[in-house]
Amino acid sequence: RADLLMLGIETSCDDTAAAVVRGDGEILSQVVSSQEDLLVRWGGVAPKMAEEAHSLAIDQVVQKALDDANVSENDLSAVAVTVGPGLSLCLRVGVHKARKIAKSFRLPIVGVHHMEAHALVSRLVNKDLDFPFLALLISGGHNLLVLAHGLGQYVQLGTTIDDAIGEAYDKSARWLGLDMRKGGGPALEQLALEGDPNAVKFSVPMRQHKDCNFSYAGLKTQVRLAIESRNISTDDVPISSATKDDRQIRANIAASFQRVAVLHLEERCQRAVEWALKMEPSIKYFVVSGGVASNQYVRTHLNQIAEKNGLQLVCPPPRLCTDNGVMIAWTGIEHFIAGRFDEPPAVDEPDDMQ
Ligand code: KG4
Ligand code: ZN
Repeated sequence: RADLLMLGIETSCDDTAAAVVRGDGEILSQVVSSQEDLLVRWGGVAPKMAEEAHSLAIDQVVQKALDDANVSENDLSAVAVTVGPGLSLCLRVGVHKARKIAKSFRLPIVGVHHMEAHALVSRLVNKDLDFPFLALLISGGHNLLVLAHGLGQYVQLGTTIDDAIGEAYDKSARWLGLDMRKGGGPALEQLALEGDPNAVKFSVPMRQHKDCNFSYAGLKTQVRLAIESRNISTDDVPISSATKDDRQIRANIAASFQRVAVLHLEERCQRAVEWALKMEPSIKYFVVSGGVASNQYVRTHLNQIAEKNGLQLVCPPPRLCTDNGVMIAWTGIEHFIAGRFDEPPAVDEPDDMQ
């Protein structure tokens, strides 16, 4: 396994990422180029802009990943690339690059599902983590509870009926006038440390539904109404120039939002653990991954759920929770070893065929 070398490429959303990972899980390089200023300027991901930014960055990012790992394309065993879900304009940039390399150097290609990669990177982090396991995947676009029976065998226990938790963090952060450059989630987590989590009474979503699904659209609206009813003009007054009292109000809203957002996660996860243990009594691990899993408050609270149920929490370090190339390369390795990959493209095939 140690002589297997995988290049992973990820362009599904706003980060252009690449990494080289060895078959035994050794990370040889990891490069991420994010579109921070674009996000601030456009207030979110604008597909056409994101595509252009990916196109501009991709060659350099991949080259740096190879250079940092001290390898050339000739040393690679295969190329793994995210094929979905995500913005198709953006995905194409990564797929195009992967096919070009694969064609020139006669390398197999492994198409990777972005959410499977968020889940499986936990097996790189913890080598004892065998199937079956329960996973909560929380990002900007997805909120999933899955029972992983084996590689490629996943049963979905719950999903969001509207927004994902990351979207609620991002919009709330924006409405609170926070600095979005490092992402709304981290900014809100930081501000919440200064606030009283019981100051604003937000209601917990979906309590009457005894299932494992999520809903964050209503909570998002509650945050907006709380801001409006307190007459703080967050549009023209960024947090950095807010008065002390104004800042405290915003911090209270942030902390109260976070408490309820995570309480909603806890309630659904507790039920999912019960369901999962009925189906698979041998489960030992509870995996929590995706961008929002880099949040310390989230980690602490979900660890309590794990412990209460006799499970071990596996939460990758923050830079493997947010979008990255390592998780794509690693998932590529898992599939490649299982014999699931595409042969190198024929020399006369177009590069952007998907
Ligand atoms: O997995 P990810 O990097 O990209 C997607 O696949 O969507 O997740 C991005 C999401 C964003 O909504 C971002 O605000 C959120 O993860 N996020 C956080 C934190 N760090 C990133 N949310 C809350 N607290 C954080 N510390
Ligand atoms: Zn992601």
